[in-house]
Amino acid sequence: HIIRDISGIRSLEESLQQQMGIQDVIIVAGNSDESPWVKSELGRAAASRMKSILTRENIIAVTGGSTIAAVADTLTPSEKEQACLFVPARGGIGEDVKNQANSICAAMADRMASKYRVLYVPDQVSKDIYDSFIKEPEINEVLQLIKSASMVLHGIGDAMTMAERRKSSNEDLEIIKSAQAEGEAFGYYFNENGEVVHKVQTIGLQLQDLANIPSVIAVAGGASKAKAIAAYMKQAPPSTILITDEGAAKCLLKAQ
Ligand code: F6P
Repeated sequence: HIIRDISGIRSLEESLQQQMGIQDVIIVAGNSDESPWVKSELGRAAASRMKSILTRENIIAVTGGSTIAAVADTLTPSEKEQACLFVPARGGIGEDVKNQANSICAAMADRMASKYRVLYVPDQVSKDIYDSFIKEPEINEVLQLIKSASMVLHGIGDAMTMAERRKSSNEDLEIIKSAQAEGEAFGYYFNENGEVVHKVQTIGLQLQDLANIPSVIAVAGGASKAKAIAAYMKQAPPSTILITDEGAAKCLLKAQ
């Protein structure tokens, strides 16, 4: 803690925590836009925080993305009697395989010698498909597990970056652009006031489910994500713990 105090990181964490009205903020040194190893540090900090709040029985819902994949890379087995079941927060086919929630769940379970379930459904589905899929017993069972999660581990992305990465239709891109969406999380796009301006119809965790989940850990860094983080945090549940880096944190504080 001494080094963090001297470098001013602790006071930056406190200011941001108050500014955002969330439970806690943890900042790792550096800017992950510029140095790839900073993303590993984000992963390490998130993994250690996550492990510190595990209880005897845990259902952990995780989203996709390269940052959450970095959390998986640094997990180690629990020293205590702590059973973990990893479930994907959402369907999530559509991302690169290694960055899909399903693959991350498997990697986390492997590293922690625990269990996981998968949800092999496309990330974006039509209303008809959605209605019939959720009636499938296999899918419904995993959905119930997701809704009863004790912890959520999620990423946050820049709205346009995510819309393009998901190969969204021109129509959706237009909505996202004209509504000036800044951030994306769980398939929802937020403007700078934290209002949902667009939503991808997905199977899995919905924004309103977060209120019932005791521990929510958001992991996102890099100065390029500052606006996205600020937008999402406007409506994030107060139980949220944000793990970010100095690159994002300094822009977030400036934007106050
Ligand atoms: O697509 C899953 C997801 O968690 C998004 O909700 C989020 O915007 C994105 O991944 C973050 O990805 P990355 O960590 O690679 O920036």
